[in-house]
Amino acid sequence: MINVAVLGYGTIGAGVVEVLQTNADSIEKKAGDRIVVKRILDLRDFPGDPNQDKVVHDYKIIEEDEDIQIVVECMGGLEPAYTFVKTALLQGRSVATSNKELVAKYGAELIGIAKEKKANFLFEASVGGGIPIIRPLTQCLTADVIEEISGILNGTTNYMLTKMEEEGIAFDEVLKEAQEKGYAELHPEADIEGYDACRKIAILTSLAYGKQVDFEDVHTEGITNISAEDFQYARQMKKCIKLLGKSWSDDGKLYAMVCPMLIDHYHPLAGVKDVFNAIFVHGNMVDDTMFYGRGAGKLPTASAVAADVVDCVKHMGTHIKMIWEQEKLPLSDFGGFERRYFVRMPKEVSLESVEKAFGAVEPVKVDGIEETAFVTGVMKESDYHKAADQFDDILNMIRIDA
Ligand code: HSE
Repeated sequence: MINVAVLGYGTIGAGVVEVLQTNADSIEKKAGDRIVVKRILDLRDFPGDPNQDKVVHDYKIIEEDEDIQIVVECMGGLEPAYTFVKTALLQGRSVATSNKELVAKYGAELIGIAKEKKANFLFEASVGGGIPIIRPLTQCLTADVIEEISGILNGTTNYMLTKMEEEGIAFDEVLKEAQEKGYAELHPEADIEGYDACRKIAILTSLAYGKQVDFEDVHTEGITNISAEDFQYARQMKKCIKLLGKSWSDDGKLYAMVCPMLIDHYHPLAGVKDVFNAIFVHGNMVDDTMFYGRGAGKLPTASAVAADVVDCVKHMGTHIKMIWEQEKLPLSDFGGFERRYFVRMPKEVSLESVEKAFGAVEPVKVDGIEETAFVTGVMKESDYHKAADQFDDILNMIRIDA
């Protein structure tokens, strides 16, 4: 029998307990051992909950309980999650977590401790919720040089963009609706400003290249500037707007960013709607692959955490090698990358003045919108900004995915 402690009995923690208990027999067959949730750490009490007797309020009780072999961390945030996880690993326990902040910041260090202690630090649920993406990157695609990762990594914003696209609803209205449905948080900045996707692309890029990509280095823009008009233009151009977390190598340079982008209707990510997530990975041998599913939610996320617990059980006393060194992997200057840009300006701005600054452009007209809108030629980001700085009335700019 393997005893597990679950830290945090919120949505995901309760989901992990539910998965491990509901599927206990099937999981036992796959893990080769019975997995039992022995203790749950939470500041709250849960009267009436079938697991209320397992709830403790002090981590020391779990730390000192020698029967606990695996710790599941679903508290979120950096502290006290980092201290508890590090303590557990230093004790030789394996840890499974869904906490992307923790993994993005301390993943390399915690994997190193797990390796030293012949234990495991697994975090499949930290990116893409229930979608298998960490194992594919670290196990199935290791024969490839990864040339591109493009992900719809945030369910809340994908839901909002889908609503705006399909129903023509304005940003503020759709945010309110997403909050009412419980998809968006009361304080939605982490999602709508792209911070959540930023941590996720930093994790994936670190794993793809084996070194630390600091999320602070990833150029990040959210979706707060995207309007109903932008979707009208997108439709006209046979494109859709998605918040992408992207990293890619080009000419020996590595880039990463999070921003809304215009992608072609036939791109595999274009069909990813509502709260679903997907991660498109291009390897130099395997070519294009895509991983799709529910990127958030109680049971999908818990399913991935519980599967990590199973893997910990299957590898008791053995470290599953995962290469993520603490050495920093510098990202190349984003300003040097070339692409096309869709730009909207007031109708008073003449195409002549636009072309003087940007070079030849393709105008885009939408019936009923009186603006000067156009797509630039391929130009460096830094050159785009030099040209754009000559105008003080740009309504919006959206990058076009190559
Ligand atoms: N807020 C996140 C999302 C939850 O909307 O995708 C999963 O990390």
